Amino acid sequence: MNGRIIITGASGSMGAAATLALASQGQSILMACRNIEKAGAIRDRILARLPDAEIEIKHLDLSSMCSVCEFVNELGTVPVVALFNNAGTISRGYSLTSDGLENTFAVNYFGPYLLTRLLVPKMNQDARIVNMVSLTCRFVSVGENSLRPELKDFSQLGTYARSKLALLRFSQEFSRRYPELKVNLADPGIVNSNMISMGRWFDPLADRLFRPLCKSPERGVQPALTALSSPEKNRLFVGNQCKRIPARFLDPVLDLRLWQETESILSSFIPRRCN
Ligand SMILES: NC(=O)c1ccc[n+]([C@@H]2O[C@H](COP(=O)([O-])OP(=O)(O)OC[C@H]3O[C@@H](n4cnc5c(N)ncnc54)[C@H](OP(=O)(O)O)[C@@H]3O)[C@@H](O)[C@H]2O)c1
Repeated sequence: MNGRIIITGASGSMGAAATLALASQGQSILMACRNIEKAGAIRDRILARLPDAEIEIKHLDLSSMCSVCEFVNELGTVPVVALFNNAGTISRGYSLTSDGLENTFAVNYFGPYLLTRLLVPKMNQDARIVNMVSLTCRFVSVGENSLRPELKDFSQLGTYARSKLALLRFSQEFSRRYPELKVNLADPGIVNSNMISMGRWFDPLADRLFRPLCKSPERGVQPALTALSSPEKNRLFVGNQCKRIPARFLDPVLDLRLWQETESILSSFIPRRCN
């Protein structure tokens, strides 16, 4: 690919695994991370193995729409050949960001939504976009008023699942609007990472019983890596399969309504310099 690949959350378990795998293929990588020190340590480890690897780091905090805008504005002119929306969070408690968005939704949905939209003019004609979703999507639904949950609507797993389902719906509407770009979904399965800690008293027990059964980050990120080099679009990559989006997730009218609602929410506080 001629240009660079942006990986959000490249300081995390699967993000770091993707950075190493893609750098090993000779790709130029931009690690988009909120913790620059952590990202720097990962880059140093990769450079120790691959001294010629092209890896840049830039600050990106997906919980702040202003940070997303700044990230895009400071990117320069090198074309983006792929965007891996990998970063994610599962907030233990209900909290609002400085923009007034619920934190899990900000990081998992609004941030990637805005980032992807703002990056379009910098993307190559047939750029790849991969959005990381989760098998939890199938247990929830999203509708009007789902995007800004109140305290009474919040649960750690439920809100996480709804934020990922909103991302899945965004992907489909995006694919309709930008048919030349190849946007796909990847579901890593259950992966041994920081993310699967719930921050609860039973974590040590769950770690001993459950973690050994989970996939490694290197294995979990494989479907996303396959999607990043695939000519397919609007598909779900899971395990070693590339599937059509399951029927339960097909609803173009709802996709459009969520898109419009998101545009209206974001337009109320996107700083002028983003436009
Ligand atoms: N693990 C699983 O079983 C599983 C299953 C399904 C889907 N997924 C999805 O896979 C993706 C990668 O997760 P993982 O398992 O590799 O978890 P992880 O190790 O916890 O990595 C998450 C990454 O997201 C970053 N991040 C969190 N909040 C952010 C913010 N406000 N701004 C920018 N970056 C932020 C983290 O940054 P820091 O390094 O600074 O913390 C980290 O780099 C996520 O989207 C997750 O939802 C995971």
